[in-house]
Amino acid sequence: MTARQIIIDTDPGQDDAVAILLALASPEEIDLLGITAVAGNVPLALTQKNARIVCELAGRRDVPVFAGCDAPLKRGLVTAEHVHGKTGLDGPALPEPTMPLRGQHGVDFLISTLRDRPADSVTLCPLGPLTNIAAAFVKAPDIIPRVAEIVLMGGAYFEVGNITPAAEFNIYVDPEAADIVFRSGVPLTVMPLDVTHKALTTKPRVDAFRALGTEPGRMVAEWTDFFERFDKEKYGSEGAPLHDPCVIAHLIQPWLFTGRHINVEIETTSELTRGMTVADWWRVTDRIPNATFMGDVDADAFFDLLTQRIGRL
Ligand code: BDR
Ligand code: CA
Repeated sequence: MTARQIIIDTDPGQDDAVAILLALASPEEIDLLGITAVAGNVPLALTQKNARIVCELAGRRDVPVFAGCDAPLKRGLVTAEHVHGKTGLDGPALPEPTMPLRGQHGVDFLISTLRDRPADSVTLCPLGPLTNIAAAFVKAPDIIPRVAEIVLMGGAYFEVGNITPAAEFNIYVDPEAADIVFRSGVPLTVMPLDVTHKALTTKPRVDAFRALGTEPGRMVAEWTDFFERFDKEKYGSEGAPLHDPCVIAHLIQPWLFTGRHINVEIETTSELTRGMTVADWWRVTDRIPNATFMGDVDADAFFDLLTQRIGRL
């Protein structure tokens, strides 16, 4: 199997951090060409810094990290410190990163990488608001047919919303960007809350990370400990959903996930339902399918994969 070339577009975030670690621990399946940071969970100055902290934690100072857009296409930024803490990576004490941020803008890195590599060879993995991806598509529409696939975390159907009653955070923050991506014609695989709320941490699952006895294992355990308190209070669940690692796990073991190829459109005009992913799960319209919208995950196998791979770092 040749490793799939990917770019991770991200707003770390503890769960983004675990997703990046999973990618870096999986070189047989994943060739990480670069990381583009976007404003989301916390402002861009922190997300780009957090991406570098995570690369250094994995001993991968060579991964190029770029700063992308610092605000949604048409709206003010909404952040999620109430979930992720002030830094976005609250939990364990973290060192200042020393690896440099690359000078090129993240959007230009996306464009030049897609132009320079063969068509259909690069997969985009957005883990935050879709601002960078949409900005690249608007600035350079010629790259759109060159994208192999987009596998993203965002949206919800049966679980509806986590930031409003109707919307999931990543899509809510920049619905215009999401609309551009969902209409782009690029093959989309979507990991909505319907899936990620089944990938919950439990005490034995977090203990397994800690028992690895490594620095990355300890960090993942402490990040999830911190991140859990919000979802436990809100949903009364045993633990927290590890949303973003679902994207990377799908690249490694796609059989862990099941879903439907359906039409998914984004609400951009209503204030009440802004950012809702209107998913035609029951195929009640004749709208053309544009996304494989996942609905289920084998959570035990997902955590086994995660623990085994983090243990390699
Ligand atoms: C998404 O929003 C962020 O808080 C997480 O990192 C994840 O990408 C879940 O709604
Ligand atoms: Ca994220």
